[in-house]
Amino acid sequence: MSSTLRAKKVLLGITGGIAAYKAAELCRLFIKAGARVQVVMSAGAQEFITPLTLQALSGEPVRHALLDAEAEAGMGHIELAKWAELVVVAPASANFLAKVNAGMADDLLTTLLLATEAPIYIAPAMNQAMWANPVTQRNLSELDLTLGTRLTLLPPDSGEQACGDIGPGRLMEPVDIVANVEASFVRGLHAQTKGTQVLAGKHVLLTAGPTQESIDPVRYISNHSSGKMGFALAEEFYAAGARVTVIAGPVALNCGSYITRVDVLTADEMLRAAYAGLADGIDIFVGAAAVADYRPANTEPQKIKKNSQAQAMSIELVENPDVLASMAKQGNKAVTMVGFAAETKNVVPYARAKLEKKNLDMIVANDVSAEDIGFNSDDNAVTIVTANKEMVLAKQSKQAIAKLIVAEVAILHNNKG
Ligand code: CTP
Repeated sequence: MSSTLRAKKVLLGITGGIAAYKAAELCRLFIKAGARVQVVMSAGAQEFITPLTLQALSGEPVRHALLDAEAEAGMGHIELAKWAELVVVAPASANFLAKVNAGMADDLLTTLLLATEAPIYIAPAMNQAMWANPVTQRNLSELDLTLGTRLTLLPPDSGEQACGDIGPGRLMEPVDIVANVEASFVRGLHAQTKGTQVLAGKHVLLTAGPTQESIDPVRYISNHSSGKMGFALAEEFYAAGARVTVIAGPVALNCGSYITRVDVLTADEMLRAAYAGLADGIDIFVGAAAVADYRPANTEPQKIKKNSQAQAMSIELVENPDVLASMAKQGNKAVTMVGFAAETKNVVPYARAKLEKKNLDMIVANDVSAEDIGFNSDDNAVTIVTANKEMVLAKQSKQAIAKLIVAEVAILHNNKG
C-alpha cells in the first residue's frame, strides 16, 4: 500500500530543543514514505543538530536564513511557502509557539508559517513545566482556534525527559508523527482545509454513549461510556459538510443545535431510532455507542426488596440486539458502515474479525487496556481497520482523532461511488 505522502512536498521545520535530534529520523521516515522534504531550521535548532545531517537525509540544501541572497535567488521564501503541500514543525519549542501565535515573522521558519496556505502540523516538545505553563497552553489553544482545520496539533508524549523531569513534553515519536500526517493528508481533510466540504449533502447517523437497561424502577445495568468520542465525531462530520443525527444514550454532553439529537435509554430504543434514521435515508452509519450486550429478562415493575435470608441473588439476562450488525444486515450497500471495537488484547486481529462478521466498511479499534485513554478520558489512541489497510492514530485528543477518522470515512465513502 503506497503512502498518502508519496510525491508530496513536505516542509519540515525544526526549532531549538534537545528533541531536534529526532527530526533526523522524522526526515528519513518522510523520505521513506516517498515525500520530498525541504528542511528549514531555526537558529536554535542548529545548536542541537547540524544542517549537514538534514541535508544528507533530505537530499536538499537546508534553509535557515531569511535574508540569504544566494538562497533567495534559488527559491525565494514566498515561493518556498507556496511550494509546500504540508508544513510539519517538529520539534516545536515554546518560543516558536509564542512567536507563531503572535504572528511574528522574524526568521525564515516563522515567516514561512505566516506565508503558507498549506495544512500545518505542529509537534511541540519541551520541558514538562514549560509545556504545562498556562502561557504555553494559551498560545496553543489560541493557535488552534485561529487556524481551525488548517492546524493539526501532534501532542507530546509523557515520560522521562532529557532534563531528568518526568511528565508530558517529549516529542511524539517520529513514526507516530508520520502515521498521523499520513492519515490526515488525504483528499478528505485536504479538501476540507481548502474550504470544500467533502461530505456536503450526505446524511450521517451516529450512535453514542452507553445504554441503560432497567432491572427495576431504581436500578439498571450500564457502562462507563461518556459519549465523548461519538459527540466529537458528530462535530467533525458536521464540519465536513454532512447533515448529522446522533442517537445518544444517557450522557452528560451537549451538542450544537445544528446536530439532530435523539435521546434513548435502551438498546431496543437505540435500534428503533437507528431503523427510523435508515428509513429517512442515510449515507454513513457510525456505531460509536457502547451498547449493553445483555439486558434483564424482566424489568420488575416494583423495586426489588432485599431478601435477608438469601446470601445471593441472580438476575437473568437476555441478549440485546446488535444495533450495528442489524443496520449492516439491512443490506443497503450504498451506506458506509463504521463500527468501534473495544479490545484489551489482540486488538487488530479481533477488530478485523468484527469487521468481517458484522459486514462493515471500517472498524475503529480501541485498546481499552491502556489506563490513560478510552472511556472517560479526553484522549484516545486507535487503529483504523478497513478491508485493505490498517492505520495507527497515536494518542491525542478525541477531537483530533475524530477529525482523522472523518477524513478516512469520507475517502472510503466517496470512493464507493
Ligand atoms: N454494537 C452495537 N450493538 C450491540 C453491541 C455492539 O451496535 N449490542 C456496536 C458498537 O457500537 C461497536 C461495535 O458494535 O461499534 C463493537 O462493539 P463491541 O462491544 O466491541 O463488540 P461485540 O460485538 O459486542 O463483541 P465483544 O463484546 O465480544 O468484544
